[in-house]
Amino acid sequence: MPATGAKPAGVTDEAQAAEAVRQMFDSIAGRYDLLNHVLSANVDRMWWWRAARSFRAILADPEASILDICCGTGDMTLALLKRRPRGSRPILAADFSREMLRRGARKFGPPELRGQSKDLPHAVAVEADALHLPLRDSSLDLVTTAFGFRNLANYEAGLREFHRVLKPGGRLGILEFSEPGGLIGKAYAVYFRRVLPAIGRAICGKDYPYTYLPASVGSFPPPAQMLEMMRAVGFTDCRWQPYTFGIAGLYTGTRGAADGAGAAPAMLQTALARH
Ligand SMILES: C[S@@+](CC[C@H](N)C(=O)[O-])C[C@H]1O[C@@H](n2cnc3c(N)ncnc32)[C@H](O)[C@@H]1O
Repeated sequence: MPATGAKPAGVTDEAQAAEAVRQMFDSIAGRYDLLNHVLSANVDRMWWWRAARSFRAILADPEASILDICCGTGDMTLALLKRRPRGSRPILAADFSREMLRRGARKFGPPELRGQSKDLPHAVAVEADALHLPLRDSSLDLVTTAFGFRNLANYEAGLREFHRVLKPGGRLGILEFSEPGGLIGKAYAVYFRRVLPAIGRAICGKDYPYTYLPASVGSFPPPAQMLEMMRAVGFTDCRWQPYTFGIAGLYTGTRGAADGAGAAPAMLQTALARH
């Protein structure tokens, strides 16, 4: 069956799915970081760090234009920023949940607001939907997303949008959960489907987000199918690098050098201008 997108319980179309996801993240934003680190025993920090390291050459270029979409409370963005030189273009960090983004902006926003030197690497927070990015065609060197892609209402539309905004030769990195096989997979399934929702409920006082999480991972396409989707929209050199026994993994791809580009409005291009 072809993969379409996230299907939170009770929704019937993509618009409802997106709204349900946005509201869910708004509602858990205050506890998100705590829950994340408890539930992953801080292994998530290593995943963000490894994902950022995969793009170290682009990140080291102060002129590179970079988008971290579905940035949430900003930990992937921070991992990218650690590899940016002083005085480099700000990263564009976007999310459609205002509450998640607000918390992220406190960590990665303009350094002068945090009493730090102005030329420290930082990001610009943008409230935007991954399926309708307010960015010009062929304008970015790198698009990353960590644990957000799985929540998109339409995976193919998301990949097309990332492809559209990347320059020919630009790179895509999608860090996402997956379901490992074998004994590890069986043990992990028990943790993911039974223990994790119980801890989530205890810390956050809500059931739904932590039953949605394993359900959304279970219905997410396996790596071979994701790579096929990436190729189908025009990405080349598509790979999946499993992390921690395949509990998570990084999908990477490149926008083909000869791909054509159209012309779209550049509403946020100025946000990427060097400060
Ligand atoms: C699980 S959190 C991940 C946050 C962060 N990247 C991290 O690694 O901790 C997923 C984020 O994706 C965002 N998101 C989901 N669908 C989105 C969409 N269509 N457009 C923008 N953001 C979206 C949610 O609001 C949420 O903040």
